[in-house]
Amino acid sequence: MMDQMMPYPAVARAAMEGLDGSLIRTIFAESAGVPDVIPLWFGEPDVVTPDFIREAAKQGLDAGRTFYNSNFGIDELRAAITTYQAGLGRKARFDGVCVTASGVNAIMLACQALLDPGDRVVLPEPFWPNLGGIPRVLGAKVATVKLRLQDAAWTIDLEELLAALTPGTRMVMLNAPANPTGWMLSRADQEVLLAHCRRLGIWILADDVYERVVFDGRAAPTFLDIAEADDRLVSINSFSKSWAMTGWRLGWINAPATLMTALGKISEFNTSCTPPFVQLAGIAALQQGEPFIAGTMSRYRAMRDLACARLGAIPGVSIPVPGGAMYSFFAVEGCTDSLALARSLLHGAHVGLAPGRAFGEAGEGCMRLCFAVAEDRLEAACERIAHHLDRPGGR
Ligand SMILES: Cc1ncc(COP(=O)(O)O)c(C=O)c1O
Repeated sequence: MMDQMMPYPAVARAAMEGLDGSLIRTIFAESAGVPDVIPLWFGEPDVVTPDFIREAAKQGLDAGRTFYNSNFGIDELRAAITTYQAGLGRKARFDGVCVTASGVNAIMLACQALLDPGDRVVLPEPFWPNLGGIPRVLGAKVATVKLRLQDAAWTIDLEELLAALTPGTRMVMLNAPANPTGWMLSRADQEVLLAHCRRLGIWILADDVYERVVFDGRAAPTFLDIAEADDRLVSINSFSKSWAMTGWRLGWINAPATLMTALGKISEFNTSCTPPFVQLAGIAALQQGEPFIAGTMSRYRAMRDLACARLGAIPGVSIPVPGGAMYSFFAVEGCTDSLALARSLLHGAHVGLAPGRAFGEAGEGCMRLCFAVAEDRLEAACERIAHHLDRPGGR
């Protein structure tokens, strides 16, 4: 009533209406009051950040590292990132590194620097919801290319992806290892994509946050290995997954020199800088974190295999073996409403999974389970899921 009388209603801008809320958070919110839930909905290691990393932050606080710093991060961390990446065989330049307040902040900064309203962004689907949401916040248009679950693997038709990267496309977002599917991009496919994007002037936003969460080798192949310094490539990275630092909000961008001035300005207008004592923790992670990563990966490998074996034994469940990341993204035969199934698993089996539709239409009929948990919890969750899906009306 009031709105009709007011010429300027107090509402958010129109683009906000088109943004979906997170279906993962819908399930999380519904869990309030459900007893003894095993929560496997979020993508988060279930261990506290290692001691040596927390210690570095404490020392930073005690040393008074509490002031504003550069828009690009403190020099010590930028140098440590460059050295760490060189150790992985990557071409990283100190002055091409911008420290950010998390991986998601890195994606937002890069997109704010690159996307105008109406720009076309191409994204393989299923995708992590924020990858689709951030361009939409900025008024860009997202077109998706669907991955398919075939022969126990999530795969993309490369020709189809290339065909979607039309002249005039501004950006392709490639997250591999991928959340939620664990899909990997081979070096050969990266070469083809890079050559195509070079020809057409398309920016590649490589979301590399799971580059160390791989089950074969030390790190996944990234575009950084093959790109030249002036390629239109922005690589996004984060401390969240590899070093169990989700709550610290620390990440970084590798970008060509031509983008750095813009990133500095955009950083100024977002967070201005990242807390220095948090950045010191990041240095400890990079310099002393290899044994932690190796230990984490051997644990995740065992959990991945356990989830595949237990869930794969349920009639009608197709579960691929992910090459990286920390999720089982499995299809349940007969499921046409993954949100309803997530609700029924929550209330009936007391297990919290993310509905596949949260990751786009291509994820409908699937569920995502984060296996970065203790073995007994995962065993119990799989048993509850199997029991629930076997019941009449359980799916
Ligand atoms: C694919 C992907 N990219 C980026 C992020 C961002 O991580 P953070 O913002 O915690 O650094 C996540 C977190 O779940 C993710 O799954």
